[in-house]
Amino acid sequence: MLEIKELHKRYPTGDPALRGVSLSVPAGQVLGLIGPSGAGKSTLIRCINRLVEPTQGQVLLDGQDLAHAGRQGLRMARRQIGMIFQEYALVERLTVMENLLSGRLGYTRFWPSWFRRFPSKDIQLAYSLLERVGLAGMENKRADALSGGQRQRVGIARALMQRPAFLLIDEPTASLDPKTSRQIMRLILTLCAEHKLAAIINIHDVVLATEFLPRIVGLRQGMMVYDGPATQVDHKVLTDIYGDEDWSSITDRLAGNTSTIANDFDDQMASLAAVG
Ligand SMILES: Nc1ncnc2c1ncn2[C@@H]1O[C@H](COP(=O)(O)OP(=O)(O)O)[C@@H](O)[C@H]1O
Ligand SMILES: [Mg+2]
Repeated sequence: MLEIKELHKRYPTGDPALRGVSLSVPAGQVLGLIGPSGAGKSTLIRCINRLVEPTQGQVLLDGQDLAHAGRQGLRMARRQIGMIFQEYALVERLTVMENLLSGRLGYTRFWPSWFRRFPSKDIQLAYSLLERVGLAGMENKRADALSGGQRQRVGIARALMQRPAFLLIDEPTASLDPKTSRQIMRLILTLCAEHKLAAIINIHDVVLATEFLPRIVGLRQGMMVYDGPATQVDHKVLTDIYGDEDWSSITDRLAGNTSTIANDFDDQMASLAAVG
């Protein structure tokens, strides 16, 4: 269970990027965080694992306040939090396998000079994850030889190497074509379900977000302006998040999304209420 309480971030250079965001994510829930460019989506998820230092507020992961954790506490907590990036953040000249193993300790991009000393169980885990994300047999390919979709699959497998409980995913499909985007979204959701992972997925594509994610949180100028079911994202909600526009082409498509998403949402909110 992740609980963000009254989170504020002001970068030294400018206006506040987050202005008192509060949000609960129960274990196992995957939610979509949408909002215009500059709304604070990346800042919010980076404050969770302190890649960005929050200015004020709490980030409680299973009760532990990461916003105020010391170095050791933070390091332990970060093992539970995997991260997936828009631009994949792979080490280009390393192989797929090396990228996975170098990600074993999280999202630091360091040169794994001690690479050969990885335990065989990590290597086994890497092989099984590569197979699971559809990259069996690709372990010796260099990262820079892969397509965008393959690169994101490596990014996903790498994030799972540390056996996290929570994933922070920043615009995972923004650099991908529509079909690959859908495959990647489906893969992420399947893996989250299999591994019982909770996740926050930043995603600017409203149609993609509402199709795949039952719960949508909308940010605008550092404030949460929507938190509810994907099925209730309508003209008013889109206007609240993105501003005035003729949203009919999008709302028409949203109306076509199935009601199973509504049921998923009810189930998830019931589990949230049960947790308290
Ligand atoms: N490292 C930074 N230094 C200063 N300002 C930043 C930095 N990163 C983001 N910002 C500002 O914070 C606001 C939110 O940015 P960001 O979290 O990247 O939004 P989003 O991910 O929704 O596009 C923007 O106004 C952006 O310019
Ligand atoms: Mg961003």
